[in-house]
Amino acid sequence: MNNEWYKRMSFYQIWIRSFKDGNGDGIGDLKGVYEKLGYIKSLGVDGIWFSPIYPSPKADYGYDISDYKNIDPEYGTLDDFKKVLNEAHRIGLKIIMDLVVNHTSDEHPWFKESRKSRNNPYSDYYIWRDKPNNWNSLFEGKAWEYDSERGQYYLHIFAKKQPDLNMDNPKVREEVKSIMRFWLDMGVDGFREDVINFISKAEGLPDGLPFVPAVNGMPYYKDGPHIHEYMAEFRKVCEEYDCIQIGEGPMTTVSSALKYLTGENKSLDMMFSFDHMMADCFYTEYEHRPFKLYRYKKALSKWQYALAGKAWNALYIENHDHPRIISRYGSEKLRYESGSALAVSFLFLQGTPFIYQGQEIGMSNIRLRSIENYADVSSINNFNSYHLKESIEKRLKRIHLSSRDSSRTPMQWTADKYAGFSTHEPWFYVNRNHAYVNVDEEEHNESSLLNFYRKCLQIRKNSRTLIYGKYKEYFPKDPYIYMYERSLEGMHYLIICSFAKHTVKVRIPKNLAEVKLKLVISNYAGLRHSTYFAPYEARVYRFRK
Ligand code: GLC
Ligand code: CA
Repeated sequence: MNNEWYKRMSFYQIWIRSFKDGNGDGIGDLKGVYEKLGYIKSLGVDGIWFSPIYPSPKADYGYDISDYKNIDPEYGTLDDFKKVLNEAHRIGLKIIMDLVVNHTSDEHPWFKESRKSRNNPYSDYYIWRDKPNNWNSLFEGKAWEYDSERGQYYLHIFAKKQPDLNMDNPKVREEVKSIMRFWLDMGVDGFREDVINFISKAEGLPDGLPFVPAVNGMPYYKDGPHIHEYMAEFRKVCEEYDCIQIGEGPMTTVSSALKYLTGENKSLDMMFSFDHMMADCFYTEYEHRPFKLYRYKKALSKWQYALAGKAWNALYIENHDHPRIISRYGSEKLRYESGSALAVSFLFLQGTPFIYQGQEIGMSNIRLRSIENYADVSSINNFNSYHLKESIEKRLKRIHLSSRDSSRTPMQWTADKYAGFSTHEPWFYVNRNHAYVNVDEEEHNESSLLNFYRKCLQIRKNSRTLIYGKYKEYFPKDPYIYMYERSLEGMHYLIICSFAKHTVKVRIPKNLAEVKLKLVISNYAGLRHSTYFAPYEARVYRFRK
């Protein structure tokens, strides 16, 4: 299998409901995507990852699928999708789909059948028990829900409307392969595989620790006993095509990730890690702590070093599951400066970058007035389940810091009403800052974040060193500066990002004191050679040695 093309690529992630409405009903759709393919191409990315666009009751906005081989009517038809796929391919963009097979929707026909009785063709498609164990779900109370039709409990690691599939059933694995083939035969280029490290559950489903909320069952469903066998089966399907597989691995450690990414049983080309997304929170973003640069750097370096020469990183700082990064690791007041420093901090690492819709223009968090205004099942559940002794205001503040809804507001295309996302009132709140944070405005401003992203992606694309080079971090303990070097065959890049809100003096590493640094890009104007860095200043230098 020779699919190494993914190493030279970068991707744009679309969460369709909020990307662009093409038919004026207030909901993003494939027609809207089609209109914006040229824009996506203009960023300099090489592919699109679609978060789920399949039919879904949307209890988890598409991650609860009721038909794996179709398109949700709100988003269009299979023909609309084929049109997008063909046009994307024509202009040189690959398309990868979300493969969500840890669970389905409870409205999927398999589940509707499964719940009917204990002995029908679908009765073992899900995980049923007479007595639940003590696991908690990640999204909604206990992990077991009683179904009166069947008279048993079913397992749901996520929301109640997301029953877990029984992957130990060979028929279920055949279904997964058939889903993969359906999309691969149509021409898609691979999959992002949702919570894929959760699909094999420990035999007997033992109780977890009683005092670890939410994640207490995780030791028994993360990297479970048969995971690598199942993954190998799915890999075989992929090998029949020229395609890639990227796993989402919540809470995955480097060492367990390497088991998917390397060796004879390699089953994934890349894995999304979560470590660097916890520089301001624990486990889930719901337990907040102040952002510390050293935590971010430490996590990035850990993965860079551990995968070097063995595997390939998936690089990201935003997606549909996290609040906006400028609001977290940067500064909304210094939106351009911190947004561009954050871009530099991850785009030049070794790996394939993924940029989430709106990240390239510096979209930031929304702060809604009441929990009633939020749409995301996990935000609502967190609000209703944790820190109940705190005041409503304090709890709402936690939601402001943590809600996934902040990344799901309509994309800000223009300063117009509804941000140019739709002509109709959108399905969800538009961030008021669309008056000045929008694509239109940034297109016309040479030194906007949007154009900065474009330049960085171009620089990465044209440099073998930035794609394949070795990684080395300098001054890992520095509280303000993230500095790293990439090198290949005598060509070197030095990347320096300040995360300070004030001017700081930067040390140049001793071994580089004599080299002649050539500035490649900076987020401040003019030639930058002083060792003083302005707030969130970032520079990329090139040199030979
Ligand atoms: C993944 C998805 C997330 C979803 C969850 C359950 O983490 O990225 O959006 O809620 O899986 O499918
Ligand atoms: Ca629409």
